[in-house]
Amino acid sequence: MSRTFDIVKNDPNRLIIFDTTLRDGEQSPGCAMNLEQKVKMAVILDDLGVDVIEAGFPVASKGDFEAVSAIAKIVKNATVCGLSRAIKGDIEASGEAIKPAVHKRIHTFISTSPLHMKYKLQMSAEDVLEAVKESVTFARKFTDDVEWSAEDASRTEDDFLCQCVEAAITAGATTVNIPDTVGYAMPDEMAAKIAMLVARVPNIDQAVISMHCHNDLGVAVANSLAGVAAGARQIECTINGIGERAGNAALEEVIMALRTRQDIMPYTHGIDTTQITKASRTLSAITGFSVQPNKAIVGANAFAHASGIHQDGMLKNANTYEIMTPESVGLTESKLVMSKHSGRHAFREKLKELGYELGDNALNDAFARFKNLADRKKEIFEDDLIALVEDEITSENDNIQFVSLQVVAGTSGPQTADLCLSIDGAEKCAKVEGNGSVDAIFKAIREISPHLDATLQLYQVHAVTGGTDAQAEVTVRLEEHGKIVNGSGADVDTLVASARAYVHALNKLIDKRETFNPQTEDTVSAAL
Ligand code: KIV
Ligand code: ZN
Repeated sequence: MSRTFDIVKNDPNRLIIFDTTLRDGEQSPGCAMNLEQKVKMAVILDDLGVDVIEAGFPVASKGDFEAVSAIAKIVKNATVCGLSRAIKGDIEASGEAIKPAVHKRIHTFISTSPLHMKYKLQMSAEDVLEAVKESVTFARKFTDDVEWSAEDASRTEDDFLCQCVEAAITAGATTVNIPDTVGYAMPDEMAAKIAMLVARVPNIDQAVISMHCHNDLGVAVANSLAGVAAGARQIECTINGIGERAGNAALEEVIMALRTRQDIMPYTHGIDTTQITKASRTLSAITGFSVQPNKAIVGANAFAHASGIHQDGMLKNANTYEIMTPESVGLTESKLVMSKHSGRHAFREKLKELGYELGDNALNDAFARFKNLADRKKEIFEDDLIALVEDEITSENDNIQFVSLQVVAGTSGPQTADLCLSIDGAEKCAKVEGNGSVDAIFKAIREISPHLDATLQLYQVHAVTGGTDAQAEVTVRLEEHGKIVNGSGADVDTLVASARAYVHALNKLIDKRETFNPQTEDTVSAAL
């Protein structure tokens, strides 16, 4: 039997936390990660204590395969999982990619709802049932830990869902996943679905039931927890709730709800909650996808007691307005770490402590930027270093590099950007007027490297730390012919950060590597 099945068998209240940040999360527009970024996140997830890491969809591209394989080599504790459609080639690719892992899982799925079978698969129910048996049987040749998912399970007829789940377990599935693929169900319905399976599927005790809920109606976490109350023992979730459309159930919300309401949800798990903030911030830095300020658990306001009444109550007794402590999610003041007098050795050591091991060239560049930052900013915090280093490593191999920028800004216009980029090593400059400084900068980039069909979808700025000399972290999202990419850039000058972010997004846009979405089979931008 699989490791996770045994864990639940030995402790029926133990939940398996299955993280799909690197697969379903990566399917969110603009969230593609490159191999190094995925490996970095996988190590963080392993330290966080997730039981299963769904590392990707290996058949999609060489890059996806290599990322899953690299993760399989490096992860120490968690089971490493590869996603596959009910297709032999997919399953073989997953089996091969996860081979180096200590604990390995193949996850295979097929749609079971009438709507999906008729329009997406164009298959009869009999053929789908046959595919369930064949795909799980084939996957078992590679590992004894096989998860089977009924895509669009929440809109699947009960009788057919029971038949498929029973067949998957008979064929050797040790986890059966019941997704609310389109985020349509309500908590009572998800609970009823799981209770129905527990009552009607004769061999259900031979597998762990899993929840996989999307957040289109804002109830993914509630649906997941409702499923657990009805008998599910695995929750599939992502850091910051990233994922297709409105995202997946957010890991941090699931875990902190369980921890805070142990009185009514007496379940255990292996998550070290103090690692949550680190995981959330690293993912945001890597993807350029920052979380909204009022996001539960990891938003900037989640623990801010801004109103006077609250502050007064908090001083008398913290429990008046605080149901969990910032420390419990690893939220501490960003530590003051370095000054302009710090040397290269201390810089390298500090980066190591923060989880970054840079090669000599990248270290030299990062150190030069740190010195420059230290000249302009009195105090350098850990968050400053993370922003700086993430910026450095995400742009390290880009063909187009930001070189310099001078801006004429202010009320008397015209606002002008005098910008230089290096394209494949050759420096090119442009001086352009715009309706405001940001417009002028972006126009200058377009003049140097034309990409006329691309449109700007998002431009977002946030301060890395407090203080007027804080670094700005800018996110730029570009769309061209359906391809969506995010770029990020950091600098104490918001306009320089904006230029860096746009250039970073542009590099991703012109990268021709492509992969495809396992569910819709649409071509999407590759893990760059
Ligand atoms: O949402 C979904 O149904 C999925 C499956 C591939 C499990 O992501
Ligand atoms: Zn999903």
